[in-house]
Amino acid sequence: MITGKYPSLRLRRSRKNDWSRRLIEENNLTPNDFILPIFIIEGKNKKIPVKSMPGVYRYTLDKLVYLVHKAIKDGLPMIALFPYTEKKKKNLLGTEALNENNLVCRALRSIKKRFKNEIGIMCDVALDPYTSHGHDGLVKSEYVLNDETIDVLVNQSLLQAQMGCDVLAPSDMMDGRIGKIRKSLDKNGYQMTQILSYAVKYASSFYGPFRDAVGSKNLLKGNKKNYQMDFRNSNEALREISLDIKEGADMVMVKPGLPYLDIIKLVKENFRIPVVAYQVSGEYSLLSNGINKGLIDKSVILESLIAFKRAGANAIVSYYADKLHNFLE
Ligand code: PBG
Repeated sequence: MITGKYPSLRLRRSRKNDWSRRLIEENNLTPNDFILPIFIIEGKNKKIPVKSMPGVYRYTLDKLVYLVHKAIKDGLPMIALFPYTEKKKKNLLGTEALNENNLVCRALRSIKKRFKNEIGIMCDVALDPYTSHGHDGLVKSEYVLNDETIDVLVNQSLLQAQMGCDVLAPSDMMDGRIGKIRKSLDKNGYQMTQILSYAVKYASSFYGPFRDAVGSKNLLKGNKKNYQMDFRNSNEALREISLDIKEGADMVMVKPGLPYLDIIKLVKENFRIPVVAYQVSGEYSLLSNGINKGLIDKSVILESLIAFKRAGANAIVSYYADKLHNFLE
């Protein structure tokens, strides 16, 4: 397949000038490629820094309008809402997830009222912001129950859809939840609500700063290895994806991002469906702290994000999504 030979062929010829490099570039990024995660908190007129994530904040709902307006102006297609739940509202069953006046529901209503369909809103479907043990589902004898958890997730999904969520993103890794959520959405008149399945979510230590951001870090008992995937595996990723497609997922997520580019590529090449990559909190914190300390140049941000596109991602969830002017022309 590769033809030509030195000295008649010199690949450096096309690298010599900027115009020529631009002419042959294979991948690029635009605002359309990004999903902005937003952490929300109770209260008024507050913007609280997340200690472990430089440049990332938790916002009260009254501050959301400005933030979402800016996201729309920047050309972002979608935001993702993540609630910081007060400890007193957490319990063993995560019942706050089904409260129609919880933070996420109030945020959905207010953003949809103000901005209609100018921007998509994605919400996690999982119980970890709401459980006192920090797990994504119901726990019995230290095991996260599957089918019992799905029953709650189905209700959480329906509630979020009713509140105006455009894209439900089950991030819990229970078996069989996509099919049951799809069925209940369809039955209740939400045929057009999309599902972005976190189909391939690894049990990863790169999520550390996120758990700090949503206040589940010190609560989490044990780890999530009995439901999230083992990072030693990749064939299993294909099984997860094929099941979720059959069950009705519109898009799939691979997570974390940069250490899992092989998985993004594998999924894209095997299934040819929209693949979203999540540049998770730990990746963000490592890069940002390295840059802030002067250890590494800020151009690493663009370099790492382009890698996602090269691997085949259609879109990237990134905490850099509201800072694109720093590294996109
Ligand atoms: C919760 C959830 C997590 C992330 C997104 N949704 C953490 C976890 O599974 O423990 C991680 C995001 C990040 O690290 O940026 N279901």
